[in-house]
Amino acid sequence: MSTHRSVSFTGIRFENPFLLSSAPPTESESNILRAFEAGWAGVVTKTIGLHPVVNVVGAKAKFMRTSPEDAYVSMKKRPGAALHSSWNWELISDKTLDWWLPRLRRIKEAFPERALIASIMAGSGNDKELKNWQRLAGDCQDAGVDGLELNFSCPHMDRRDMGSNIGKDQGLCSVVTEAVKEVARVPVWCKLTPATADIEVEAAACFRGGADAIVSSNTFPSLPLIDPDTLEFEINVDGLVSSGGLGGPAILPLSLAKMAQMTQAFPDRSFSGIGGIADFRQALSYILLGCGTVQVCTAAMLDQAVGPNVIQRLLAGLDAFLEAHAADGWTGIEDFRGLRRDRIVSQSAIRRPDAADYHSGYEVAEGYAPQQASMSP
Ligand SMILES: Cc1cc2nc3c(=O)[nH]c(=O)nc-3n(C[C@H](O)[C@H](O)[C@H](O)COP(=O)(O)O)c2cc1C
Repeated sequence: MSTHRSVSFTGIRFENPFLLSSAPPTESESNILRAFEAGWAGVVTKTIGLHPVVNVVGAKAKFMRTSPEDAYVSMKKRPGAALHSSWNWELISDKTLDWWLPRLRRIKEAFPERALIASIMAGSGNDKELKNWQRLAGDCQDAGVDGLELNFSCPHMDRRDMGSNIGKDQGLCSVVTEAVKEVARVPVWCKLTPATADIEVEAAACFRGGADAIVSSNTFPSLPLIDPDTLEFEINVDGLVSSGGLGGPAILPLSLAKMAQMTQAFPDRSFSGIGGIADFRQALSYILLGCGTVQVCTAAMLDQAVGPNVIQRLLAGLDAFLEAHAADGWTGIEDFRGLRRDRIVSQSAIRRPDAADYHSGYEVAEGYAPQQASMSP
């Protein structure tokens, strides 16, 4: 293991900054063991809850591809089409807490040097639900996990006090984080939904509750496309569909924008970036915006379920990048983390051919003189 790859994130030591996110690649003991063998420094388990879930009939996740000649986006497999996104309406783990606990213990025993983070989720509407968060947190940490990730972001929960419905309510973000922090002896990360207007509001609420890091993005709310021949949604059960989540390449720029909002608002806090990462180039964007770790789902699902080639590409990319910047004296990700965070500014601060002609969208006042104050970011 090369030391230049290692990072310390919220006090947890990772052999490299690359993790598998909470999703099918981390839904079982065998997958997680295979992931660690392949070289992932950490995994976030598929979200564990107290109420058993039952998934829909048929496919829980599909991939959309786009054809270069006409930009047709569809789940239909066809030659020459490139990956556009993943779409899913899978719920949290369908395994119980009791199923998970001995497995968490065994995984940690087999790979004590790798980081095992438990993703957990309960409701938030009453004290009983807050106690459920505490029970999940307590039991998982007693089983030996290194950290907890609170799922405030699942986009397809019916319950008004669960999943992304928590992440859309700054009050609930604070209350739940605080409840977990009361019992937590390990770092607590909050995974936020990108489906809010100003994500730094919910990030601030989590930090007020004591969060050690923010994780983003979960999938973006979305619908599958309607087949032009059958007029049916490309994924449906008895003709019906409900809102699901978009992941993969299509969400990379969207997720970067959400992340930048937060890293700019809280430059000294810890962030883990997710969304559309398949190799080091995409991971680099998140790191340059200030993320200390990144997580991968869609690319890993498409690569033997746990991404053995993806992690090798990420590691090789990081090594090559550091080598290329050896003359700059860069020896690890702390040397370039956040380097481009301050390059995102307001429109008015961007150079234009004639600054005197641009008034930030305002009417030209008589005797108008460009206001320097509003030009600064
Ligand atoms: C089929 C599927 C199931 C998922 N389940 C969970 C989950 O249980 N908990 C969670 O926090 N995120 C879940 N996610 C979201 C991913 O962890 C990740 O945030 C998202 O897919 C964006 O990353 P990507 O672009 O690398 O796919 C799931 C994603 C997919 C595709």
